[in-house]
Amino acid sequence: MNYEQVTETYEAYAQKIGDRKRMYETIANIFDVKRALYPGSHVDIAPSFVIPHVIYVDSFKGAIRFFKKLETVQELIDQRKEYDEPCAIEFFGQDYTQPLDIEPVDLVISQYAGFVAQAMKHHLKPGGILLCNDSHGDATLARFDKTFELIGVMGSTNELVQTGLDEYFHLPKGKDVDIAEVKKTMKGPKYTKQEENYAFRKRLERE
Ligand SMILES: C[S@@+](CC[C@H](N)C(=O)[O-])C[C@H]1O[C@@H](n2cnc3c(N)ncnc32)[C@H](O)[C@@H]1O
Repeated sequence: MNYEQVTETYEAYAQKIGDRKRMYETIANIFDVKRALYPGSHVDIAPSFVIPHVIYVDSFKGAIRFFKKLETVQELIDQRKEYDEPCAIEFFGQDYTQPLDIEPVDLVISQYAGFVAQAMKHHLKPGGILLCNDSHGDATLARFDKTFELIGVMGSTNELVQTGLDEYFHLPKGKDVDIAEVKKTMKGPKYTKQEENYAFRKRLERE
């Protein structure tokens, strides 16, 4: 792929999924994120516009083709990045459940790509942030996993709301969440109050 093809591929995809840059920017600014891991990224390189070092992982052949000329993707990011540091990107064209030889990260991004947080939590620094939605139930698994603490929710305004968090992840009529069912169906339940995205903090070992 040449520069024009890489740009066109990204632009077409960004138009389909909507502009996520502000969402990533909010998280990067609040939590001073310098290094992120994005498994199941497809070609969503928006995190690199606001985060200096991002590691992308995807096994889909279209994504592998896109990232094959890493310098060309990097060139596009260099044109659009909003930080002073040089941009660094890595890509692993593999199943994210398989071992990854990387240093711990400040942020794990999970967007519509299965149980990313469960597979990747060991790569997240203690105190690091998980940004995820509940499309496939990944936020639900994080909410009921002692590794994580819910610290914020984010809707279409891309502002992080850090109050009233006890109101989330409740089923109608006080029913219990069936984690086994979520794992089986790979679908987040319909809660009485929900948001597009959730931010969790990985607890420190002594907590
Ligand atoms: C629905 S797309 C979402 C892409 C992007 N995160 C977004 O929100 O636009 C899911 C992506 O996750 C990738 N994916 C799903 N499971 C994966 C796995 N186990 N290993 C690597 N990639 C995976 C797919 O190849 C696909 O590109």
